Amino acid sequence: MVNRWNNTFTRADITPEPLWLNRRAVLAGMAGAGALGGAVAAQEALVPNTWEEITTYNNFYEFGTGKTDPSDNAGDMVTDPWEITIDGLVDNPGTFTLSDLIADMTMEERLYRFRCVEAWSMVIPWNGFELADLLEKAGAQSGATHVAFETAVLPDVMPGVRRNVIDFPYVEGLRLDEAMHPLTIMATGIYDRPLANQSGAPIRLVVPWKYGFKSIKSIVRITLTDEQPATTWNKISDREYGFYSNVNPEVDHPRWSQASERMIGGGLFSSRQDTLMFNGYPEVASLYDGMDLTTNY
Ligand code: MTE
Repeated sequence: MVNRWNNTFTRADITPEPLWLNRRAVLAGMAGAGALGGAVAAQEALVPNTWEEITTYNNFYEFGTGKTDPSDNAGDMVTDPWEITIDGLVDNPGTFTLSDLIADMTMEERLYRFRCVEAWSMVIPWNGFELADLLEKAGAQSGATHVAFETAVLPDVMPGVRRNVIDFPYVEGLRLDEAMHPLTIMATGIYDRPLANQSGAPIRLVVPWKYGFKSIKSIVRITLTDEQPATTWNKISDREYGFYSNVNPEVDHPRWSQASERMIGGGLFSSRQDTLMFNGYPEVASLYDGMDLTTNY
């Protein structure tokens, strides 16, 4: 596997896999007690967990809004075969099987900090390929300015969809230059293993300088367009979740500060650190030259 863009972190920085899988449990423990005491208590409580238990905390509203709903319910989603439609302003539109689509993509491991909008972060070893390679293969047309993404809507296996807990399909979007940036990847695995269904199998977006909720899961449609696409969290609360959602320590969430974050794992595993502009990926700053990132949050 090729390794590029890994200069920020070394393997020693990777959040241990049990903590990645358990981060919401760890954070739940931290919320109730003093930060360290709670984390230690949660961590100790995690040691005997089974695989089933430790993949129990996710956000994937198609399977329900509870943290255990995705792992309880996502098992019946069939992710192989999987089809993705690429349409809109492209020269080569169509519906492709995932295996055909990724056959000539260069798979890489990327070690990225994952900064959740809830003010915690981890370092994750994703497996995937650059979205730019896919968009080049699709033949983005000169009029295209944005890329829209859509998650599968499978009422038979998605209880959250059956209950209409939010408006489905779950949708996300990027500006075309953001989508073409070499840091933007489509992930098919974590820790050299295929994504679990509740983690967004078989393919999910990862944009490391943006808050984690931009990483739309289980993608079935990618549309090149000439207008800014709607995004699910922006539709739910535009005051709290903007289209850009770049990690920015100077723009607080209306209900909490974004100036710092809890680092899960690594040494003292819940130490706090200052949040970095663009989540520590300054190479993307030029994408936003001349923009006011306070109003374009
Ligand atoms: N994608 C879809 N299709 N549905 C969702 O509900 N939740 C988002 C994002 N992608 C979500 C989604 C949110 S709010 C977060 S924080 C991350 O997925 C959570 O990813 P994780 O469960 O792997 O931590």
